[in-house]
Amino acid sequence: MPETTETAEPAAPFSTRIREATAREHEEAENSTFITDMLAGVLGIDSYRRYTAQLWFIYRALEEHSAGLADDPVAGPFITPELARTAELERDLAHLAGPGWREQLDPLPATTAYAARIEECARTWPGGYIAHHYTRYLGDLSGGQVIRGHAEKLWDLPHRGDGVRFYVFDGIGNPAAFKREYRALLDRIGADELEQRRILDEGKRAFVLNRAVFTELAGEFAARRPG
Ligand code: HEM
Repeated sequence: MPETTETAEPAAPFSTRIREATAREHEEAENSTFITDMLAGVLGIDSYRRYTAQLWFIYRALEEHSAGLADDPVAGPFITPELARTAELERDLAHLAGPGWREQLDPLPATTAYAARIEECARTWPGGYIAHHYTRYLGDLSGGQVIRGHAEKLWDLPHRGDGVRFYVFDGIGNPAAFKREYRALLDRIGADELEQRRILDEGKRAFVLNRAVFTELAGEFAARRPG
């Protein structure tokens, strides 16, 4: 008997699909040893500085090609200046590492690999770029706020000031509304089913690439862990 599509479940909205496809990976990232230890205060501010430096490479990769993607029919609608983080990271690093911050920048191998994958997507595959865009920016607008709160308290950083500006989106007055609109954009994504599945896979890969950075950071700071 031929398969009928009439009884098939309609596909869930793409924003739901990508959240569900990466839910397990999200939990692993959130509970990674490095993030847990850093936010528990057992690793010291060095760990936060080193982590922030890794973010600089990741956001440079996300943002250096964004102008070229602004007119792309698939990725273009996601490119918006109020999300850009490179300038904020540079202010944070100047505060955390001093005027010589740029010379101290040193990417971990996992960071280099992650940034290279983002750049490859930005240059060759707008749908893949969206998977990376989603994984970082929607996360920063969500769990990022938890990280900011811990960092301010643990290391006495000025509230929403230098050191934590990366987590402060001055151009976004209402983060909840922004996230709603972002999800609506995901739901209108100009991609057929096959391409949507490829983007979901890239979303999982984005989380795996983040976790690899956390694993290397954990290794670097292992000696600071108690007992
Ligand atoms: C969403 C917490 C780490 C990526 C969320 C939400 C929470 C959260 C509460 C839901 C917010 C909402 O529905 O509005 C945390 C905490 C973290 C953490 C506490 C660590 C301390 C991460 C990491 C990534 C990430 C490391 C990826 C690099 C995301 C994404 C979303 C999200 C993409 C949006 C999910 C969606 O609604 O589609 N996070 N998170 N998070 N987080 Fe995290």
